Amino acid sequence: MRPTLAPFPMTRLRRTRRTAALRALTCETTLGVGNLIWPIFIRDGEGVEEPIPSMPGVVRRSIDLAVKAAEEAAGLGIPAICLFPYTDPALKTELCEEAWNPENLSNRTIRAIKAAVPEIAVMTDVALDPYNANGHDGIVRDGIIVNDETVEALVKMALAQAEAGADILGPSDMMDGRIGAMRRALEENGYPDVAIMSYAAKYASAFYGPFRDAVGASGALKGDKKTYQMDPANTDEALRLIERDLSEGADMVMVKPGMPYLDICRRVKDAFGAPTYAYQVSGEYAMLMAAAQNGWLDREKVMMESLLSFRRAGCDGILTYFAPEAARVLRRG
Ligand code: PBG
Repeated sequence: MRPTLAPFPMTRLRRTRRTAALRALTCETTLGVGNLIWPIFIRDGEGVEEPIPSMPGVVRRSIDLAVKAAEEAAGLGIPAICLFPYTDPALKTELCEEAWNPENLSNRTIRAIKAAVPEIAVMTDVALDPYNANGHDGIVRDGIIVNDETVEALVKMALAQAEAGADILGPSDMMDGRIGAMRRALEENGYPDVAIMSYAAKYASAFYGPFRDAVGASGALKGDKKTYQMDPANTDEALRLIERDLSEGADMVMVKPGMPYLDICRRVKDAFGAPTYAYQVSGEYAMLMAAAQNGWLDREKVMMESLLSFRRAGCDGILTYFAPEAARVLRRG
């Protein structure tokens, strides 16, 4: 039970807000560089940096420049970088075989980064959409996204990423049973130390629009992802998904999108106390950047305030396209 506050004027809550020193002493939440994970987009070529129009300031980088980005991140103290490949449409098939090609763009990038910057954690995305002629995260048969066959494909993909040297696998596909299947396969194949950050509570959200442009999946996608991603109306279901993925061997869990789902972050952290992350997704980034570019919002201030909100909601870390810029602000102090 909370003690009852002494009535005004004995209690004046403004007393502790009067000076910067008093505000520092009563500050409840911190944001540090160690809370940031930087998602980057990769593409073929050399020395190429290609802007993504719907995500101002974000680019697709060739492998050599992805390595440079990893060096920059490590120099800033950002602990992890997360890779998303833009796949040549000619490599997309119905069965998504490119997803577990040991020499695919993503796996080559993992190797290059781990060779040059071994101290940074490399996180991957485990889902079939960049490789799928149908644009879906799973294999499509007669218009149905089939679960168990997709899980088999995802396990192959996860093992290829582990083999390439990934530190954290990020299954973002929302199929049932994939965490347990991946965890067993990792144990059986000599990768007991590879971590899994499950995109456990991932909603069927319109905030992913710019990302789908970035990875070139917008054109291919027919229909929506509502048979596997969650209904934005649900919260109890998010807890069941998180519990299920933790019980199958996930080390870390994620809520996605971020800002519109901070209530879910808080519930997840309170219920399980597990390492909890949020993804401030492409549409959230685009929204803030668009307003900042119009002079309607102060970019740096809304960036930092939005990132702090994830910490306040109980998140241990945030996947954010703002990571290097936020790290620079944090280091400046
Ligand atoms: C793919 C995936 C998506 C995102 C991360 N992994 C898109 C989707 O599910 O359609 C979205 C990230 C963002 O919007 O920034 N499975």
